[in-house]
Amino acid sequence: MTLRSVILGTGSALPRRRMTNAELATMVDTSDEWIVGRTGIRERYIAGEGETTATLATDAARRALDMAGLAASEIDLIILATATPDQTFPASATIVQAALGIDDCIAFDVAAVCSGFLYGVTVADNMLRGGAAKTALVIGAETFSRILDWEDRTTCVLFGDGAGAIVLRAEESDQASGRGILASRLHADGRYNNLLNVDGGPSTTGTVGKVRMKGQDVFRHAVVNLAAVMGEVLEASGIASDDVDWVVPHQANARILDATARKLGLAPERVVVTVDRHANTSAASVPLALDTAVRDGRIQPGHIVILEAMGGGFTWGASILRY
Ligand code: COA
Repeated sequence: MTLRSVILGTGSALPRRRMTNAELATMVDTSDEWIVGRTGIRERYIAGEGETTATLATDAARRALDMAGLAASEIDLIILATATPDQTFPASATIVQAALGIDDCIAFDVAAVCSGFLYGVTVADNMLRGGAAKTALVIGAETFSRILDWEDRTTCVLFGDGAGAIVLRAEESDQASGRGILASRLHADGRYNNLLNVDGGPSTTGTVGKVRMKGQDVFRHAVVNLAAVMGEVLEASGIASDDVDWVVPHQANARILDATARKLGLAPERVVVTVDRHANTSAASVPLALDTAVRDGRIQPGHIVILEAMGGGFTWGASILRY
């Protein structure tokens, strides 16, 4: 037996308001045909009055706790991955903690943009196996709509808002066949900061800034880096790519998903795709897609699942687990 972090529940939340490509075409010079053809995105959800990163995160967390059958009081660690916190400080994780009525636990945010959930999962897994905590909520939540330049058609059509959460618990697991996270790998390369960033911040302009991206350059790096890091977790876990049941990728662009799967020889029907409905929700995209595939019955206990993401920094990472 070995101590592993096991997913006991998943949950997600979307804002009330759905925005189609047709609606976007009334705001900037774009078309449904261009957006679907280049990205696979058909619609996204946009946060409205009273909806924030922390409210969406709290809703997703409650659903994950419900599925796990656990009371919020059993949580002793909250890691919230976001690039769009409610406030510069305190961490939105503490807002979620208060909303869930948890008196005392470890709570902090991680900032790794679209890879944030993978960073959060990896940190939580190490803290759980190291004994710092027993039961964790790892959440990815974003309201990117609030940092988009709604006059820049090269970025505003690509992103959406939402949240996803998992409950992870440290459990003794059979070495060969037991559930839990089997291996994770993280990377960052800050030389590429300028390809995907926001043009502001508390310590520079004193504003939050707007998203800026050189899309084609990001695309090129994404396919190479994601295929490489998925190869690393396969090797570290000793699992062959043929034995992978599901890949739950960061949902940035349907063409990146296809190209990455092809590079690894994974069948496209093994890739969970929600980018058509959610667009790119940054740190929320992996847990949102995971929850979708768990709740519609595709991902079953015992399945081998790879989670992967790449984002601004660049940062990127992957985890492989037995669900
Ligand atoms: N509607 C219509 N036309 C648009 C447009 C839009 N929303 N956005 C850009 N265009 C135009 C461009 O101006 C350009 O016109 P030009 O040829 O007259 O200059 C043309 O479409 C092609 O633009 P280009 O940027 O070369 O398109 P692309 O095929 O690279 O697709 C992305 C653009 C952004 C969809 C693609 O590069 C991408 O997905 N990159 C990765 C982004 C990503 O994953 N980011 C997040 C990582 S976390």
